[in-house]
Amino acid sequence: MSQDSIAVGSIAGAASSVAARGLWSSRWAFFLAATGSAVGLGNIWKFPYITGQNGGGAFVLVYLACILAIGIPLLMAEVMIGRRGRANPEGAMAALAKQAGASRHWGKLGSVAIFTGFLILSFYAVIAGWAVAYAPAAAIGSFAGLDGESSGALFAAMLGDPWKLVGYGTLVLLLTLGIVGLGVREGLERSLRFMMPGLFVLLLVLVGYAATTGHFAEAVDFLFAADFSKLSGQGVLVALGHSFFTLSLASGAMMAYGSYLPAGTSIVKTSIMVALADTGVALLAGLAIFPLVFANGLEPGSGPGLIFVTLPIAFGQMPFGQVVGGLFFVMLAIAALTSAISLSEPTIAWLTEKFGISRLKAVLLSGVALWLLSLGTVLSFSAWSEITLFGKTFFDSLDYLTTNLLMPLGGLGTVLFTGWVLSRSTVQEALGIGHPQLFRLWWQVLRGVTPLGILLVFLHSMGLFG
Ligand code: PFF
Repeated sequence: MSQDSIAVGSIAGAASSVAARGLWSSRWAFFLAATGSAVGLGNIWKFPYITGQNGGGAFVLVYLACILAIGIPLLMAEVMIGRRGRANPEGAMAALAKQAGASRHWGKLGSVAIFTGFLILSFYAVIAGWAVAYAPAAAIGSFAGLDGESSGALFAAMLGDPWKLVGYGTLVLLLTLGIVGLGVREGLERSLRFMMPGLFVLLLVLVGYAATTGHFAEAVDFLFAADFSKLSGQGVLVALGHSFFTLSLASGAMMAYGSYLPAGTSIVKTSIMVALADTGVALLAGLAIFPLVFANGLEPGSGPGLIFVTLPIAFGQMPFGQVVGGLFFVMLAIAALTSAISLSEPTIAWLTEKFGISRLKAVLLSGVALWLLSLGTVLSFSAWSEITLFGKTFFDSLDYLTTNLLMPLGGLGTVLFTGWVLSRSTVQEALGIGHPQLFRLWWQVLRGVTPLGILLVFLHSMGLFG
């Protein structure tokens, strides 16, 4: 993949030629990059803990429905807009709007997405830092003999040490922006090529181990038996928000990556494959983690520490746990890194294309801002843990604002833009679906089901349906 040419060719603005901005080297490269963006902390860290907090099966079902009816159609739309506009999300949306005879202000939706991605990256880097911290701990055998209580204490000790969190978070930011800034030739593509299958295999190993705990059936029941009395309106909104988060939607990433996609690649097939891989990883993570939760008497709804408390217990007990555990957290860190890279690309592309500054300057500028903002998340777990807004810490507020508000609303805007502002013929041509029936299905879902779905979830979360 030509992440390097992405790095070189970004002078542009509206007049940017395709050649100057660079393209992915192949469809496979794009698939890897998009899957690298989608699969990350959202699947392995976030999905299990929010599933635990929202009662299990019914939440999972709503989440899957959101992926199908909202996430996948929007993913296709975003990649299509990026490829058609050949610019950063703001530039691409403004250009498409202009072409359709609509207001250039539609570009603001793109700016909101870029800002959303920027905010997410500020806390994402901190959480990725937890995985970086846990990799060496696993490898040197610090998890030997842990039980639920001692594992919880180990995690709490890390959270309570802001210097450690800042250190690891800074490392993640440096790595992310270093790769994005330098555009290492083939670096991203090559690491993804072994990392994705590797992560998958390790997850299978963990699921296999979880099956030996004697609590597998309980976990399957928890994940897949839908009891809607356990799901609140807010829970439905969390499921919707997570479908955006996990597919990297409404935050500029997929649009930015789409803008480097060669003409002629099937957006439909690739998007479906990305969504399948992403959902598969999340469900496997659930099957690996919940048996351990039940076997160790832990609380499924305990929150963001869930995998960092449960998995070390397994690594401390299983044969070759040091190797498996070390590898697992390294892979989790790499999965997070490839997502973090995609979170930063929209901001960098926007800064360079809109203000004509160099890629290096854009990286430095956003790096400083991200680092400062990340301190808020770090301190949420220690010195600022008592400082709350509507009962939420700084980290909780950022997470809520981005995932549960900005993403669904930004996604709604993008869906309406694609389905109602752009013309059917433009979209059909840009998407490149040869099959008229298939296109009609997608078009109708995008114009009707998707926006209505988002609206209904919002109304439901406000308690409008009792
Ligand atoms: N999809 C990533 C995950 O599940 O971890 C997170 C993410 C990446 C969200 C890129 C948004 C984004 F633009």
